[in-house]
Amino acid sequence: MIAFLWAEDADGIIGRNGRLPWHLPDDLHYFRELTEGQIVVMGRKTFEGLKRPLPDRTNIVLTHQVDYEAPDDVIVYHDAPAVIAYAETKPDQNLIIIGGANLFASFTGIPDVLYRTKLAGHFEGDTHMLPIDYSQYALTKSTAVTNPDPQLTHTFEVWTRK
Ligand SMILES: NC(=O)c1ccc[n+]([C@@H]2O[C@H](COP(=O)([O-])OP(=O)(O)OC[C@H]3O[C@@H](n4cnc5c(N)ncnc54)[C@H](OP(=O)(O)O)[C@@H]3O)[C@@H](O)[C@H]2O)c1
Repeated sequence: MIAFLWAEDADGIIGRNGRLPWHLPDDLHYFRELTEGQIVVMGRKTFEGLKRPLPDRTNIVLTHQVDYEAPDDVIVYHDAPAVIAYAETKPDQNLIIIGGANLFASFTGIPDVLYRTKLAGHFEGDTHMLPIDYSQYALTKSTAVTNPDPQLTHTFEVWTRK
């Protein structure tokens, strides 16, 4: 199974200055539950926003830079088909595409499942989620979570390809 996994605000903002625009521990926990033991794919900019590779997951980073230096436990690829080919050799693991926007664009139309966390608030940011054709998907699960800060009230949505 191939999935997109991301969190966006009411306006579709996903990033600011190379980081997330919010701190939402509940979503980080959800992210960990969905990705542990799986293959995660991220763009080079998102990877560089992390302190270290994500533990207990196969980390793949995409970059066009052929001489890109990454830690030994990180797999570096230079195009999306190479990622898909790798995942096909690991049928027991999900391939979870975790952003950012540039990376999602490289996998447009591919995911079977969309895990979208929708925040109620409006945040400042410089990176938007790309447009997604939701008519291709059915909302199969939606879990609303109220937060004391109304900006951080959010819904965990699961969209499955029709
Ligand atoms: N809210 C969320 O769920 C979420 C999730 C992830 C990220 N983010 C945020 O999004 C922002 C980063 O997003 P972004 O769009 O600026 O950057 P990004 O997608 O993380 O990284 C872009 C870089 O990835 C590489 N890349 C992407 N597609 C490629 C392909 N098909 N082949 C080879 N290389 C490819 C290129 O690296 P080179 O330039 O090295 O060639 C490109 O410049 C950050 O603020 C981050 O915190 C938010």
